[in-house]
Amino acid sequence: MTDIDTAALKENFAAVAAHGGDEVALYFYSYLFLRYPETRDMFPPGMTKQRDRLVGALVRIVTDVDNAGQLVPYLEDLGRDHRKFGTLTAHYPAVGEALLATLRHFSGAGWTDKLGADWAAAYRIVAGAMSGAAEKVAASEPAFWDAEILDVDHRTFDIAVLTVRTQTPVPYLAGQSLAVEPSLARPREWRFFTPANAPGGVDIELHARLIPGGPVSTALVRVCQRGDRLRLGPPFGRMTLQPASDRPLLMVAGSTGLAPMKAMIAELAGTGRRRTHLFFGARSVREAYDRDALAALDNRYGWLSVVTAISDDTRWNGPQGLIGEVAADQGDWSDHDVFVCGSPAMVEASVKRLLADGVLEEQIKFEEFGEA
Ligand SMILES: Cc1cc2nc3c(=O)[nH]c(=O)nc-3n(C[C@H](O)[C@H](O)[C@H](O)COP(=O)(O)OP(=O)(O)OC[C@H]3O[C@@H](n4cnc5c(N)ncnc54)[C@H](O)[C@@H]3O)c2cc1C
Ligand code: HEM
Repeated sequence: MTDIDTAALKENFAAVAAHGGDEVALYFYSYLFLRYPETRDMFPPGMTKQRDRLVGALVRIVTDVDNAGQLVPYLEDLGRDHRKFGTLTAHYPAVGEALLATLRHFSGAGWTDKLGADWAAAYRIVAGAMSGAAEKVAASEPAFWDAEILDVDHRTFDIAVLTVRTQTPVPYLAGQSLAVEPSLARPREWRFFTPANAPGGVDIELHARLIPGGPVSTALVRVCQRGDRLRLGPPFGRMTLQPASDRPLLMVAGSTGLAPMKAMIAELAGTGRRRTHLFFGARSVREAYDRDALAALDNRYGWLSVVTAISDDTRWNGPQGLIGEVAADQGDWSDHDVFVCGSPAMVEASVKRLLADGVLEEQIKFEEFGEA
């Protein structure tokens, strides 16, 4: 691995990406689908938007191959997760070939044999980690779980809490997420959503917030109904409780970033309880969509305290402000295990403030509800 010049790979891709627009992604997919038509059905029917979802991610990951040691757990998750698309080990060389053909095409005279060999070697390492992990679980775990929607509770026009039922329990850990495909409304469009209840049963509670123009969140919040079918992918993510730690917990959640915190609180209630402070933030009173459930949890568990803060609505009598700031102002969290979840902007601001206040990086786990 050491003789792969990853700086040259990054430089090469920057030159290729300068061709702009989605020309590069278009070439990649045309190559892949023409030569390997069997791969077409794994992708969404209409691929005009977000065409570079895979290509951009693919290149970022492959050019980070000198971090492969640290990346391995992520690549293994990603590989297992790809089984839900129908991806098999045999498909990896096809994607590698399409990637190299695309890079070569747009590099023109800048292409060298050494670049070609380095891209191929880097791709092989990443593809090997992904497909190896997928093969390992293939005999024991389905590629996805079929689920039926039992209930859609519209808390506001843009937030819904869905209860879905699978035939067998999905083996997630509290805090982990599952890719969701609204099979009828949005076939082959998968986005991550996070169970808000403890694992072990066949019913899963999902909190979905509508992102304007977003196909999957719109389907879940506005289109899906009781009786509709979803597919759920395998568990994904590292924001989980560390059973070995007995430190108190700080949880900072923005909007539906509350879901993983509720799952972890439910887990704590059933196993080892730890002093836990949950700070929940929303922009407006309307968006504080789970207030009744939070009040009930606060009353029920002596080891839990819940604070709700609102950032942009003066009708609120409680704490006002961005949730990361409100949490940081209300305590010294330097001896806590910390979880942060919400939009990318909320997570970034909260983590920055907590680090500045002396919480160590290794004490903080976070999940951003942007793109995977
Ligand atoms: C690990 C993980 C877990 C997640 N869990 C949940 C969950 O429990 N509940 C939930 O509501 N969402 C969750 N999300 C976000 C969700 O997966 C989708 O990204 C979101 O629903 C938008 O999907 P879409 O198809 O509607 O829109 P897309 O077409 O995917 O996105 C449309 C545009 O909106 C942007 N965007 C996406 N999400 C956000 C956001 N949160 N804030 C601002 N801009 C955004 C995208 O970058 C894109 O430009 C999670 C994301 C990840 C990565
Ligand atoms: C080293 C190899 C690969 C890497 C690093 C990689 C990485 C990724 C990433 C990060 C995403 C976006 C995450 C997501 O939407 O879930 C993605 C999406 C996807 N990948 Fe891969 N992938 C690889 C190989 C493959 C192969 C071999 C196939 C099958 C032919 C494949 C099919 C898909 C599909 C269908 C999507 C969803 C695209 C969409 O929703 O528009 N990938 N990949």
